[in-house]
Amino acid sequence: MQSGMNILTSSGPVAAAQARLGWWLMIVSVLVILVVGILVLVGAFRSDDGDRRAIDRRGGGIKWIVVGGIIVPAIILVLTLSFTVATEVATAAPPADPSVTIEVIGHRWWWEVKYAGAPAHTVVTANEIHIPVGAPVRVQLSSADVIHSFWIPQLAGKTDVIPGQRNVMWLQANKAGIYRGACTEYCGLQHANMAAFVVAETPAAFRQWLQTQADSAATPTDPDAVVGLGVFQRSACGACHAIRGSEALGHVGPELTHLASRMTIAAGALENTRGNLAGWIANSQAIKPGNDMPVMALRPADLQALVAYLETLK
Ligand code: CUA
Repeated sequence: MQSGMNILTSSGPVAAAQARLGWWLMIVSVLVILVVGILVLVGAFRSDDGDRRAIDRRGGGIKWIVVGGIIVPAIILVLTLSFTVATEVATAAPPADPSVTIEVIGHRWWWEVKYAGAPAHTVVTANEIHIPVGAPVRVQLSSADVIHSFWIPQLAGKTDVIPGQRNVMWLQANKAGIYRGACTEYCGLQHANMAAFVVAETPAAFRQWLQTQADSAATPTDPDAVVGLGVFQRSACGACHAIRGSEALGHVGPELTHLASRMTIAAGALENTRGNLAGWIANSQAIKPGNDMPVMALRPADLQALVAYLETLK
């Protein structure tokens, strides 16, 4: 179901245009290297002994330099430049009426994702970007700290994510599926653990997802989860994380309102399972050294209860 990060199998119009340009550059480069290589070999093995008149008699000399050294390279470069500019123009600006506008904010080391004006109010999630299939999506990029770069190879090329600047790009998925992406600008210790996933689904499934995400977290009723909520509050988790519908309002780490609905935690470093979640809370520094999450010295029973509560955040 989940596709790899293959730039040669594009799944949307932006990536397809960029892949076409990539193929053109590669084919032209290979042809030029072949032709020049053959000419060098021919030149090396011809025995003119440096006799200029012999070279001129065979039609060499200045003509070769003008045609092969100036005219042909100029034509190739002008064609390549035109193709590059045309591709940039075609892919730079999102269509006037994108179906969805998403704000993606780079953090060390995770992606915050906001759906402005989604049903009722802004939906906030992390590292998992749901989009409707077959529709253009406008992506506004900004950074909370250092320079990152947002890249979903099968949907669109790289766009830098720069503090103090809003870069805009767009993407579209032609097929439903899960497309893996990555941060592609070195941003510190856990740069490699900064994955993003685009989940392209039918418009109806997308609307349903957005509706669910817009809901506040329900107050837990399961006894374990009730204890877990108490642990969450006592441990001051809410100083860094927000859960809509609770008193947790922190904005340092990812919003957790619908944590349990996500496929991964820690920006793709771990599958979102009960065991991984417990391991992450107990000692995230062992899994992703340098991240902002402190080691939580919880009693095992409290840890289990806390995980039980977080698992209710569907
Ligand atoms: Cu963020 Cu590399």
